[in-house]
Amino acid sequence: MTSQQKQLRRPLQPKDGTAGIERPKALADALPENPEPLLTLAAGHVVSARQFDRETLVQLFRLAAQFESTPALMHLPLTGKILISAFYEPSTRTRLSFESAWHRLGGAIMSITDAKSTGMAKGESLADIAEMFNNYGDVIVLRSSEGHAVYDMLDGLRIPIVNAGNGIDEHPTQAMADLYTLAKWRPELFQGEVAPEQRIRIGIIGVPSRMRTVRSLLLLLGCFPEAIREVVIISNENENENFDAGQREELERAGLTLRVVHELDPVLPDLDVVYINAIAWVGDSFESLGAGLHLTRNSPLKEGAIILHPLARGVELATDLDDTPHNWYFAQARGAVFIRMALLTSIVRRISAVMDTPEQ
Ligand code: CP
Repeated sequence: MTSQQKQLRRPLQPKDGTAGIERPKALADALPENPEPLLTLAAGHVVSARQFDRETLVQLFRLAAQFESTPALMHLPLTGKILISAFYEPSTRTRLSFESAWHRLGGAIMSITDAKSTGMAKGESLADIAEMFNNYGDVIVLRSSEGHAVYDMLDGLRIPIVNAGNGIDEHPTQAMADLYTLAKWRPELFQGEVAPEQRIRIGIIGVPSRMRTVRSLLLLLGCFPEAIREVVIISNENENENFDAGQREELERAGLTLRVVHELDPVLPDLDVVYINAIAWVGDSFESLGAGLHLTRNSPLKEGAIILHPLARGVELATDLDDTPHNWYFAQARGAVFIRMALLTSIVRRISAVMDTPEQ
């Protein structure tokens, strides 16, 4: 057998070492079931992380963990339902994980992957497109580079829409995937009171005012301030450009302690979680921010620290970290399927098919 044949026959192993049902199973066991908050999501839009509170998030994590640890749980609750997957901006993870989630739940999908293939190329308004969506599907997932697009559609919609990233505004379901990853890493952070010595320090390499993933993540972290000792923003932007007017104050009112620093290596040894992102939608194109803020295998990471990255990856995150225990970013991308399954099931009022709960 040649060395290439041997390589192809090797059993395939995930690089991050966190795959498997043990962690989601432990999370599902750790969180008591309470279907009430999920019932409130039925037939509603998901536009902003601000719509969510801690109890709803905890129940979404629990349901996601059930989906991840018990594939046989699925009774294809969305059979006969149609998802309109409308992505007017490139995406790998969000579109495919939403579509994977919907397929796993038994639904059918209509997918738009290029605005030029729709009436938008002929100047059709978003309001008219929304009216058509009402007739053709049961739920819409929308990705747009325009912050206003999802809001422009709301008035005309009679079916739920989920914001899958709108310009530099928000990406609420990415933030849910981020917190779901943290919940599998340390379930005790999401169980109520957290002892002072268990609280974590999170470093966020990014710009809250210009990155939708960071904006939504901070809002959801604000639902669990008792678990977080401090959030350290690592950014080399000008001091007054890191936050929009009122953004920092809103997070501090939620109970988060925030600090902004410009250099990464001096704070890295104190961080339990390092969240890194570089891509921001600026004006009419993607830009990579954070020049010089890089993570590599040689970075002074704390032992046991985990790295999260919403991806797509740029030079900021070296591939030599992929096969280290710090790599939780692949688990984060994988878990996005299950948290989106939990959310979609709740929106389409089919949680009764997977939980012991009568439909409302
Ligand atoms: N995390 C994320 O939004 O990735 P995509 O752009 O590939 O969807």
